[in-house]
Amino acid sequence: MAVIAENLSMWDQSYAWPKQGDEWSDAWGGVSHQWWTTLFPRLQGYVPAERILEIAPGYGRWTHFLKDLCAEIVIVDLAETAIAHCAERFAGDRHVSGHVNDGKTLPMAADGSIDLVFSFDSLVHVERDVMESYLAEIARILTPGGVAFLHHSNLAAHDPSVYEGKNNGWRASSVSATVVEALGAEVGLSAISQEQISWGGVDYLNDCISVITRAGSRWDRENVVVENPGFSKVEIAMALQRSKLYPPSSPNVTFAALELGDPAGS
Ligand SMILES: C[S@@+](CC[C@H](N)C(=O)[O-])C[C@H]1O[C@@H](n2cnc3c(N)ncnc32)[C@H](O)[C@@H]1O
Repeated sequence: MAVIAENLSMWDQSYAWPKQGDEWSDAWGGVSHQWWTTLFPRLQGYVPAERILEIAPGYGRWTHFLKDLCAEIVIVDLAETAIAHCAERFAGDRHVSGHVNDGKTLPMAADGSIDLVFSFDSLVHVERDVMESYLAEIARILTPGGVAFLHHSNLAAHDPSVYEGKNNGWRASSVSATVVEALGAEVGLSAISQEQISWGGVDYLNDCISVITRAGSRWDRENVVVENPGFSKVEIAMALQRSKLYPPSSPNVTFAALELGDPAGS
C-alpha cells in the first residue's frame, strides 16, 4: 500500500510532465515513431477492439492512438491530475471515459465487458501485489475472446547482483514474466506471449510485454516466450533513425480517415 501512495504522490505532485509524457518518446524520435515502430506492430492482431480499457494512461500518450481503434475506451489512472488532463485533451471524443482508481482495482468495468486491456510504460514500477490484483480484475472484466497487453517489470527473473546500481528506471523487483504467468494462471488466465526486453539501454532483460487471455479462449495456446535483448539498441535506434528521415504521422490523422482515404485526416 505504501508503494501505491508513493506512486501517487510522484505522478500527481512531484513529476512536472514537461512535454505531457511525450518526453518518454524522445529516444524513438517522438510519440508517432514509437507508436508505429514499437506498439502498433505488436498490437495489430488485437485491434480494432469494441471496448478497450487502458490502465495508467498518464496524459494520454497511447489513448490518442487507441481511441481510434475502438467503439469505446475507458482510461483508469491513480493520479487525478492525469485523468483531469485527459478529460481536457479528449473532450471532443465522447467515447473516451476517464476514472481515477485506487491503483489496483477496476470497479468501473463490468464483468466480461472489455475486449482489450492495455497498459504500456506504467506497470513496470508496480510490485507483485498490484499485478496480482490487476490480473484478478482482468480475469473478471475480459470478454470471452478478450486479451490483455501488459508491459511490466521482469526484474524478479534476475539475481539482484545483475541489476544493483543499474535499475535506472526503478523497475519493480518482485515481478517477472514467470510471476505474471503464474499469477494469471491462478485466476484462470493464460499467458500466450511474453517478450522480455531490455529497456533504457541496460544489458539485462529488465522489462516484459505479456499478452494474456482467458484459458480456453480463441487466442489461447502454449505460451511463446522470447528474449529480445536488442529492443533498445536495435528497435529504438531504428525508430530514431527513421524519425530523422521521415515525418511523423499527422496528429489529426485517424484510422477512420485512413479508411476513407481522407488525405492527412483533413
Ligand atoms: C510514466 S507515466 C506513463 C503514462 C502512460 N502509460 C504513457 O506511457 O504515457 C505512469 C502513469 O501510471 C500511473 N500509475 C502508476 N501506478 C499506477 C497504478 N498502480 N494504477 C494506475 N495508475 C498508475 C501514474 O499515475 C502515471 O500517470
